[in-house]
Amino acid sequence: MQIHETAFIVSTYRSHHEDVSKDIYAKMWNNAATDAIIHEIFEKVSIYEAILHSLRNRYFYERMNAFFSNHKGGTFINFGSGFSMYQFSLSNAVATIEIDKKDIIEYKKQKIARWIKDGKLPARQLDYAAINFNKHSFNDIVKTIKSLIKKDPTFILLEGVLFFLDLETTRMLFDVFKKLQKPGDIVGVVTYLPEVEHTAVYKRLLHYFDSNNDTHDSFHHQTLEESYFHAISGYKVIEKIDEFELSKIYLSEYDIQSKSEILNETMFLLKKN
Ligand SMILES: C[S@@+](CC[C@H](N)C(=O)[O-])C[C@H]1O[C@@H](n2cnc3c(N)ncnc32)[C@H](O)[C@@H]1O
Repeated sequence: MQIHETAFIVSTYRSHHEDVSKDIYAKMWNNAATDAIIHEIFEKVSIYEAILHSLRNRYFYERMNAFFSNHKGGTFINFGSGFSMYQFSLSNAVATIEIDKKDIIEYKKQKIARWIKDGKLPARQLDYAAINFNKHSFNDIVKTIKSLIKKDPTFILLEGVLFFLDLETTRMLFDVFKKLQKPGDIVGVVTYLPEVEHTAVYKRLLHYFDSNNDTHDSFHHQTLEESYFHAISGYKVIEKIDEFELSKIYLSEYDIQSKSEILNETMFLLKKN
């Protein structure tokens, strides 16, 4: 499996539960190859993956919507944006900077421009940056993104990306965030906590990735302790919630009995000091 395929997968997950994800545009990226992979994941890993990714999207949608409504706009900076479509559900007072690897950015930019032109998407202030977090330097990333930020405050999102990175790149990215943001700005981030490594469903996920691995696109299986986020310099954790807890808030028809039954990811909101 190549990392860019994971962007199609999570986007399709969101399209399965629009009522939960609140992403009415996700389905625009759906395609037959991804449908086939998803079918296999439901069978071999977990049937809950689509609903959990929809919950994750709902959580960040609610938090970003509240943040930008409160500030009457600002800039949403999406690191590892994949095919996420928050920018079209947020107010048009929000400018968006999408950052991902070159192939994703080029494909997304061209598709979005076409869809806006055809009236299938509302017009928004959009900028794109093709960056590989493993290859580009701290200085290059800061310089590129800084020149694109035109409106304060900023909400940075790192969703569905940490699993693929190593610790050094992760540290570098949080240093980038610190350099780009001002006091009161927010980072939203998703991670697996190490406790998930002991669950049968996580072992099935790794097995699935390993048996479908494309050797040219290797990635880490990073999990991070909660304490990691509390120790990030320049930031304070203002909220922590996991998908199991979110299911109790937003789902009525699914009865998920325990955290260990699902691929339970944890969301943190960090506020810049
Ligand atoms: C699972 S997808 C998540 C996409 C999006 N954030 C979402 O939640 O829908 C992971 C994304 O991280 C990006 N990514 C992974 N490693 C990266 C790296 N080293 N540099 C830039 N982007 C990376 C991938 O290209 C992909 O779009």
